[in-house]
Parts: sequence; C-alpha cells; structure tokens
Amino acid sequence: MKIAVGSDHGGYGLKLGIIEHLKERGIEVEDLGCYSEESVDYPEYGVAVGEAVVNGKADRGIVCCGTGLGISMAANKVHGVRCAVPSNVFMAEMARRHNDANVLAFGGRVFTAGQACEMIDAWLDAEFEGGRHQRRVDKLNAL
Ligand code: RB5
Repeated sequence: MKIAVGSDHGGYGLKLGIIEHLKERGIEVEDLGCYSEESVDYPEYGVAVGEAVVNGKADRGIVCCGTGLGISMAANKVHGVRCAVPSNVFMAEMARRHNDANVLAFGGRVFTAGQACEMIDAWLDAEFEGGRHQRRVDKLNAL
C-alpha cells in the first residue's frame, strides 16, 4: 500500500510523526509537502494529495493542517475524494466501514501523533462494508 501525505505548516510536525508510524507499518509514503514550518497555504497540499489518490498514484491519503478542517475542505474539492476528519477511533473506523473514506484529515494543533496514529490504524485495519453503504457512496461519487 502507498499513502500520499500532505500538510501546511500547522500540520507539519504531526505529519512527520504520522510518516514515521506509517513506515513502521511497512507502508510506502509519498510526502507531497510542505517540507518545513514556514507559512504556506493549505489548499495546495490538500488538492495535491486528493489528486494523487484519485489518479491512482497513491492508494489513500492523509492530510494535516492546524485543525484538519481547511485541508479537508481542499481535498474534498477533488472529485472522487472522500475525506473524513475523525475525532476519535470510532469515527475513523466508521469512515472506512460506511463511507469508504480514501483520505483522512487531522489537526496538528488538536491531536498528538500518538492519537492520530491510533485513528489511522483503525481506518487502515477496517474494511468497507459495501451493500447499502455502496449505494450511498455511489451517490456521493455522483455529486
Ligand atoms: C494556519 O494558521 C491554519 O489556519 C491552518 O493550518 C488550518 O488550521 C486551517 O484550517
């Protein structure tokens, strides 16, 4: 599995912790920036990760900004992206099981890397349930 990651300056530190965890899990990671704590604009990085996922350059994506909010909005502008902003492990798991989320967003000013990685693990270890949820995801994709 390959995961594309991206952040602005507000999510940069959290992203580094997430990258370390993903590599420990044996996951290939592509970091699409930013590459320092210098102030940048989150829409660029949310879109870059979203496009990598829908173009098949990555299987999934993880994006981080200060809150997880702005960069999730940017990622969700890319058609085919279903980016969720989980607050806890239950939401992260359900984002996969029911919504087939292909991107997760986190706030570097909200969560520690340990907290975010617990949610990421729940998302990665869960399976999409299909069935009635497939119908709903199809409707999302058609929007
Ligand atoms: C940048 O200061 C901050 O606004 C950004 O990281 C993010 O939290 C926006 O949603």
